[in-house]
Amino acid sequence: MVTTPRKKLAVLISGRGSNMEAILASTRNKDFPAKIAIVISDNADAKGLETAIKAGIEARKFERKDYSDKANHEAAIMKAIDQSGADIICLAGYMRILSADFTKAYEGRLINIHPSLLPKFKGLDTHQRAIDAGETEHGCTVHFVNPEMDGGEIIAQAKVPVLADDTADTLSARVLIEEHKLYSSVIADLAKA
Ligand code: GRF
Repeated sequence: MVTTPRKKLAVLISGRGSNMEAILASTRNKDFPAKIAIVISDNADAKGLETAIKAGIEARKFERKDYSDKANHEAAIMKAIDQSGADIICLAGYMRILSADFTKAYEGRLINIHPSLLPKFKGLDTHQRAIDAGETEHGCTVHFVNPEMDGGEIIAQAKVPVLADDTADTLSARVLIEEHKLYSSVIADLAKA
């Protein structure tokens, strides 16, 4: 039987890391066509770093304060990504805007998950903004990353209803369940392509 090698993922996080954990859980299925090669965080205290370490995955931190400027910070991260042999780079709650140099270097294989139905609600605080705007539908988007924040080509979306008594927290929890499914499903599709 010929087996295709699994694609390697670099996952960039800044905090909780629940999307990274969901991807990790998917990779435990032997039929999933990708595995996590490295987890990178710009925040030494990110909970997701501990999760990755416990799972035996290479986990590295690159704090902005340890580099003289943004270009050097990004160069160190790019070196780690390249050394890991990652085929697909997944931003999963990574809270820094990446430069055009960075996004161009990984064009077509750098993806992000964003908690809104883009192009609606780019940026932060998406759940409260959706409620305030009177939306009846909200959700999440996986998109390619380009230099424009949350502006790259949309790959897939998942929708949830906005309920009359929703708070940002209840809506966020409903969206997060969909994020965890959507991200792995897009990664599987890209890894098989
Ligand atoms: C998620 O809602 C993701 O869509 C957004 O940041 C959040 C990260 O959550 N980009 P987690 O760190 O994956 O738990």
